[in-house]
Order: sequence, then C-alpha cells, then structure tokens
Amino acid sequence: MVSVVGAVFVALSLAPLLVLSVPPIGTQPEQVHISYAGFPGSMEITWTTFNETEESTVEYGLWGGRLFELTAKGKATLFVDGGSEGRKMYIHRVTLTDLRPASAYVYHCGSEAGWSDVFSFTALNESTSWSPRFAIYGDMGNENPQSLARLQKETQVGMYDVILHVGDFAYDMHEDNGRIGDEFMRQIQSIAAYVPYMTCPGNHEAEYNFSNYRNRFSMPGQTESLWYSWNVGSAHIISLSTEIYFFLDYGVDLIFKQYEWLKKDLEEANKPENRAERPWIITMGHRPMYCSNNDKDDCTQFESYVRLGRNDTKPPAPGLEDLLYLYGVDLELWAHEHTYERLWPVYGYKVFNGSIEQPYVNPKAPVHIITGSAGCRENHDTFVPNPRDWSAFRSTDYGYTRMQVHNTSHLYLEQVSDDQYGKVIDSIWVVKEKHGFSAWF
Ligand SMILES: [Fe+2]
Repeated sequence: MVSVVGAVFVALSLAPLLVLSVPPIGTQPEQVHISYAGFPGSMEITWTTFNETEESTVEYGLWGGRLFELTAKGKATLFVDGGSEGRKMYIHRVTLTDLRPASAYVYHCGSEAGWSDVFSFTALNESTSWSPRFAIYGDMGNENPQSLARLQKETQVGMYDVILHVGDFAYDMHEDNGRIGDEFMRQIQSIAAYVPYMTCPGNHEAEYNFSNYRNRFSMPGQTESLWYSWNVGSAHIISLSTEIYFFLDYGVDLIFKQYEWLKKDLEEANKPENRAERPWIITMGHRPMYCSNNDKDDCTQFESYVRLGRNDTKPPAPGLEDLLYLYGVDLELWAHEHTYERLWPVYGYKVFNGSIEQPYVNPKAPVHIITGSAGCRENHDTFVPNPRDWSAFRSTDYGYTRMQVHNTSHLYLEQVSDDQYGKVIDSIWVVKEKHGFSAWF
C-alpha cells in the first residue's frame, strides 16, 4: 500500500517535469510575413516551422467573403543556421497570384499539421495614379526596438501600404544559433504579416554570407533578396546591397554583378514609356554615401566606397553615385547611421537646390534621406558639430520616416520622433515637373 502511494507521489511530483519535457509542436507556423512578389496581383507569404511538414499551404479569401475559399500551395526549403548547433528550420514560401487590386484578403498559412493565426492584407493597388504610403527605417533590433510599438499601431490602423526596412535586423539574426532571428521575426509579425515588408541587407546580416537574411526574407527577383526592383503607384523602387563593397570575401564579383544589373534596370526604367508611367525612381540601400556623423563610417569619408567605388580591387570597382545621377534617380533612402539626416539635393559633394527659396522644387540632383534610428541595442549615434553644407536637417531622436508618393510630380516625406511621442519633426515636399537626367539642367 505504502509503495503504491509512494509511486503515485513520485509520479505526481514528476508531473511538471514530464509536462516540460513534451517537445514543442514543430509543425506549427510562426514568423509569418508577407512581401510583394513583384508582378501585378501577387503577394508572397513566408513563414517558419521547426519540423518538416508535408505541404506549405495558404488558405485565403476576400475579406467579408467565405473564409479560406481559395488555396495556394508553395514549398519549403531547409535552412541550417551556420552556428555551432546547426539549428534547422523550414522556411515556407507561397506566392498568391491573381489577387484583386486594392482588395482586402484574410488568410492563414501552414498545413494539416498546424495553422497560423488568421491575418489580413490588402493587395496592392496596381494603378499608376494610386498614392502609396510607406513607413521607412533601418537598424531595428530585437533589443530596444523603440519605434516598434508605434509602428505596430500605425500599421494596424491602416496608415501604411508598404514598409521598407533599409537593412540591419535583430542585432543579429544569427546570434544564439539563430534564435535572435527567430525572436525578431516573431516581433515584427504584428506588422509584417499585414503589410508587404520590403528589405535590403545591412552589415549586421553578414554572418555566414548573409545566410539568415537570404533565407528568411523573400524579395522579388533571383538574387535571394540581395538586390531587386519593383513598381508601386508612380514609383519604381530599387533595393540594393551596399554590403558587397565591404565584405569582399564573399565575392568581389558581386559588385560588378549588381552594377551591371542596376545599369540595365535603370535603362529599362528610363525608357520613355516606362518613365512616363512611373517617373519616380527611388533607391534604398543600407550604408549611405554621405552623412555627418562623428564616427569613421564610410559615409563620413569623401572617398566613400559606396559613392565612388573601390580602387583596391582588380579591376577597380565602380561606386553608385554617378550611375544613379546619370539615370536621374529622384530619391535615395539610406540607414546604418542611428540618426535621421536629410540632405539638400547633392551630387559630387556639391549642393544643387532647385532654387534658394524652394530647394526641393525641381531639384538639380538626387535627394538623400538617412533614416537608421528605429532603435537597437547600439543606441543612438551622434553628429559632428559643424556639418558640410549638403546637410539640411539632423536629429538624434529614435524614429522613422513616412513617405507618400502622391502623383507623378509630388512626393511627401516626414520624420516621426518616437522620443517625442510621435511628433513630426521634419517634412518636405519634393516637386518635380520633369524626371530623368535632363531634369538636372
Ligand atoms: Fe548598419
């Protein structure tokens, strides 16, 4: 009798341990995020499971219609993190097609072995006269992501059509054998499962040849999200890797590959019929060509690699400033510096304002915005006391940028300070009656 009671007692006292030892359900989808797949009527849904599942399925339907009346299937790829544990995860990708423009959809993703929460998104409006609204920032970490709460709420009330995250995620995705990447992707799900989350790589993604970045995100094109372009409203948006100028061990040839691709892409975007439809050409890349921060970063140097290229490679590697100027790029978005800085229209270290009274009305060179202050464990950066004359406005507040491409001639930008509870601390209208190289003269 005593021994039976003893056995029951032992069993009960071990119960919590037994519960704890139940393995997590590895087929349950998590880290759900969406991106524009790059062609009209498309959206790419991406998520993670820790065990293999037989299928990768998205069930979806129009908001207000019959739930999950449509089904799309994709596939999963095995991603093995480069850390000592060699952690495995399955990244699932499904491309939705033939979506009705500007219509809201409800979806969940997974397989018969586990489904995600129910999310929603609005398919991009494919009209060139549409005025898309963006939130733009770089350098947001798993720790101290100060702007995240405000971005979550603003996204959920429908303030943004697209998010641009201009490099540097999680700090760093590979850390703790990729667990920091998992945590970060869970953190941004509240934004990224609802609105296309478009990215470019930053220096914090470099570990194991950018493999966490290349595997976790799903941008258009065939470069594993490293560089690509897409259209929205009256804008052609180009995402670039500035990191190829710095991590030469991963291949000097990448500089030339991207440069050739970029040249072709700009040529195509500048064909008269294309530029007439989508006159705004906007680039995003992580490390700026210009900045007035008081560190030793590339952008503080006249001989910036991103701006002028590198002479220490064989053959010498071209930089980006001339190419972007020659093809009449209107706006260049950057991050990396944990501050906000707006430049006067600038080319070759010289200011080319439209006029003294209205610098951004018919500017004679590209406009640069540096917005890397979303919040991360490295905190703020600081500025040199006396900036060059191309620096127009600077702030060390945590925050992010909002942009709306209103129409073919008007584009609006403003900077939100999270430190000042969402106050707009800077804003400009860029007005262009003409786009392209000939607009500079
Ligand atoms: Fe960075």
